[in-house]
Formats: sequence, C-alpha cells, structure tokens
Amino acid sequence: MSQAATEQKYTPAQRLSGIVNSYVITSAVNAVIRLNIPDILGDSEVDIDALAKQTQTNADALCRVLRLLASMEIFEETKDRVFANSEASQSIRTDTADSQRAMIEFISDPMHMELYADMLPTIKDGRPSSEHRFKKNIFDLFEENPDEQKRFNDAMSNLSKNAIRGVLDAYDFSGIGTLVDVAGGHGVLLTSILQKYPDMKGVLFDLKHVVSGSKIRIEELKLTERCSTASGDFFEAVPSGDAYILKHIIHDWDDEQSLKILKNCHAAMAKTGARKLLLVEMILPGRNVMHPSKFLDVEMLMLPGGRERTEGEYRDLLQKAGFQLTNVFPTKGPNNVIESVPID
Ligand SMILES: C[S@@+](CC[C@H](N)C(=O)[O-])C[C@H]1O[C@@H](n2cnc3c(N)ncnc32)[C@H](O)[C@@H]1O
Repeated sequence: MSQAATEQKYTPAQRLSGIVNSYVITSAVNAVIRLNIPDILGDSEVDIDALAKQTQTNADALCRVLRLLASMEIFEETKDRVFANSEASQSIRTDTADSQRAMIEFISDPMHMELYADMLPTIKDGRPSSEHRFKKNIFDLFEENPDEQKRFNDAMSNLSKNAIRGVLDAYDFSGIGTLVDVAGGHGVLLTSILQKYPDMKGVLFDLKHVVSGSKIRIEELKLTERCSTASGDFFEAVPSGDAYILKHIIHDWDDEQSLKILKNCHAAMAKTGARKLLLVEMILPGRNVMHPSKFLDVEMLMLPGGRERTEGEYRDLLQKAGFQLTNVFPTKGPNNVIESVPID
C-alpha cells in the first residue's frame, strides 16, 4: 500500500472497526511485556531470529505480532524483520524514569481481560464483573491470587509515582503534624509527601496483607522514625491523625460504602480535632468530553463496583458524611486534590 493510502483519513465507521479491534493490541502488548521485549530491545535494533531465540518463542509468530504493534507505533520495524523500541514502547521498559509498564501490564493481563470478556451482565444489573465471573469481590479475588495482587499493587504504585509530582505541586501540605494515608497501598504517596515535608509524621493504613509490603520502602527511605503502619478495615475504623488523605479510594465504592469510610474518618477526626480531609480523585467532566475519568469510571463499574464522580457529586457525598468541600486543586495530570473540613 502506498504511503498516501496508509495516511488516508478514516471514516467514522472505519474508525469504529479499528477501535473494536483494539483488544488484539491489548493482548499483544501484554504478551510482549511478559516476554520482556521492550527491555531486551533497549536502545538497539534486534533481528527477529535473535529476539525469538532469546525469548524462546516462534520467530514467525513473534514477527507477525510485532509487525502489527509497529503499525500502531508501538515498536518500529526499522528493516525487514528487525525491530527497535518506539517512543511508546520505551514507556513500557522497566528502566525508564517515567515507565508505565506495571500499570499497562495489570490493565492488559489475562485475568483483567477476562473481567471484561462480557460487560452485558454488569450493564443489566449494575453488579461488578468480578461477582458475575468469579463470584467474589475484586479485593478478595486479588488476595486469593498472589500474582494478580502483586500486579495490582505494582500498578497502583506505578500510577501513584507518576501522579505524585502533580499532587505535590498542586497542594501545600505544610502545617500538618501527622498525615494518615487511608488505604495507602505500599505507601508511595505518603512517603513522597514525608520526604518533601521533613517535620511531618505519617501513618500508612491498609489491609494487613497489603501494608506489610510497604516495610521495605519505608526502611530504604529511612522513614521508619516518621512513618508508622497500621492495618485494618476502613469499614470498621481508621487510625488517629491530624489530617487524612485518601487517594483513589472513594471511587472504588458506591455511595453507601463511601459514606461508611468517610464517616469513619469523620469519627477519628472528631477524637483528635483534625481539620483536613483530602481526596485525590479524577473529576468527571461534562457530556461528550473525552477524559481518562470516563475509562476509569467503567473500570470502577466492572471491578470494585465503584464510580467516578462530578465535583457536585463529591460535594454532596462529603456533606452527607459531615464534611464541607472547601477547595478543588487540579493537578497537571488528570487528578485533583479535593479538600474538605469537618462541619462543626
Ligand atoms: C485503588 S487502591 C489505591 C491505593 C493507594 N491509595 C494508591 O492510590 O496507590 C485501593 C486500596 O484500598 C485498599 N482496601 C480495599 N479494601 C479495604 C478495606 N476494607 N480496608 C482498608 N483498605 C482497603 C486496597 O488494599 C488498596 O490498597
């Protein structure tokens, strides 16, 4: 096909057919990540036979998959059957500063894809796909599958790492004595805040089997004196502190469950007189606007059964839990810091 033919403008119908085929790309990207191909290519060009030998794969099959990906600018076929990283595939190497590999590996992995294999039951009754397909809550499913749990935790840390600069630039945390990160995963956000604010203390709270994975990071960053950990269930209670941060937590849950978490924060805050509750979340924009929050909203529908919300919906939810939304600080990325104070 001539260059002109490949650069033709597609009709909306042709674009739809391309979009619907994109699961093929998702599956292919996951396979090449598991084969470590972006790292193997590094900054070099590698012939397909050498690549197949190193990855113990079938050269013809690998070549056809990489050829498809190169047509989407994920890798580049520099000469016939010779491949190199493109700008996009560089971002799924493990050793680049802004690597998004862990996040892409989780989104594209077979269990995640299986959760999306049939959306119809969820659309019919609004219940998460994990309950239809595996008959359980997504977090229990992760707990029973340690490899998937690891991919999920790594993806959350990856997302946090890439979102943190924006949060630190957008919000001034100074003056906070002890910050409680409610369901802070492996503590990437909290430890970054503590590194920037040397007088602050932190409490990292999450489920027991998750919080245990944060110890190495806290030790490596020499934060053991200032960062403690606590485990438990946020539907029961959360630890005491002077301010609370919940990043990508409320969006995991429906309104009723979110209210329980927020009310438990409110109760803990009432004991110590804490005055600040910060949510780090995306905010849904208006009709027909393309925004990552609309993908995340469906991810929340399909996996934990939560939802993304508009600013007005956050305001209402916070108010029902006893908080007044005081400010929204947009970050450079898609997230916002939503600040609120307890209503006296
Ligand atoms: C979407 S992740 C967000 C993690 C972290 N805040 C971040 O942004 O990277 C949701 C977190 O909620 C935790 N979680 C789920 N159910 C919980 C519960 N009942 N009590 C405490 N933590 C829970 C999970 O273990 C997970 O770390």
